[in-house]
Amino acid sequence: MNKARHIAIIMDGNGRWAELKGKKRVQGHEAGAKIVKEITTFCSNAKDIERLTLYAFSTENWKRPRLEVEFLMKLLEKYLKNELNTYIRNNIRFEPIGDLRAFSKSLQKTIQTIQEKTAHCDGLVQALALNYGAQDEIIRAVNKIKDCDDGITEVMLSNALDSKHSVDLLIRTGGDHRLSNFLLWQVAYAEIFFIDTLWPDFKVESLEKILKDFKKIERRFGGIK
Ligand code: IPE
Ligand code: IPE
Ligand code: MG
Repeated sequence: MNKARHIAIIMDGNGRWAELKGKKRVQGHEAGAKIVKEITTFCSNAKDIERLTLYAFSTENWKRPRLEVEFLMKLLEKYLKNELNTYIRNNIRFEPIGDLRAFSKSLQKTIQTIQEKTAHCDGLVQALALNYGAQDEIIRAVNKIKDCDDGITEVMLSNALDSKHSVDLLIRTGGDHRLSNFLLWQVAYAEIFFIDTLWPDFKVESLEKILKDFKKIERRFGGIK
C-alpha cells in the first residue's frame, strides 16, 4: 500500500468561506489558521507521514489589498509564537520555504527563532511555504549552481531547491483545479486531489478519507504493474 510520506496542501478558500458566512475575509484566514494546527497535529501522530508542506503565502499574494496582506503577516507572526509549544510537544520541526527576504525584520526573526527552537525535533517536518513561488524557487536554485563545471544534473537542481523532497500526495481545497505556482518540480509524480471543501471547513476526517483513497491508487511512475 502507498505511503503518504510527504503531503503538500494548497490551503485555499478562506476568503470565500468568510464571505459565505457574512464575515470579513480576514476572519476566514483566522479560521484557516486553526485548521493548520489541527491537521499538523494529526499528521505528527500518523505513522507514515514524515513531511507536511503547507502553502501559506505565495509570491503572487502580494497583489492583494494592503490591509489583507498586513493582516496575514500579523497572523503568521502570532501563529508561530503561539504554536511554539505545539511544535515542541508534538516533536514537530518547523522549516520555512520561500524567499523570506521580503518579510519585515521582526517576522524574519520570529521565523528564525521558531526554526532554531524546533531544530532538535525529529518527528514530523512542517514546511510552511512563505513568499513561496515554484518558479522563483527554481530560478534561485539555478542561480546557485549555474557556474558548476560539468553541467547541471537533476540531483544538483533538486538539492538546490528550498524543498528537496518529492511530494506523494498533493491536496488543493477550495474547488479550483490548478497549482498556482506551488512545488512545480516536486509534484512530478504526486497524486493530486482537488476537493471542493473550503479550507476552514477541512477536517481531520477529510484528510483521513483522502488518505484512504490515496492508499488504493496504483502508482506506476512510468513503469507498468
Ligand atoms: C487561501 O485562501 C489563503 C491565502 C492565499 C493566504 P484565499 O484567501 O485565497 O481564499 P479564497 O480563494 O479567496 O476564497
Ligand atoms: C494559492 O491560493 C496560494 C495559497 C493557498 C497560499 P490563491 O488563492 O492565491 O490562488 P489563485 O490566485 O486562486 O490561483
Ligand atoms: Mg484563493
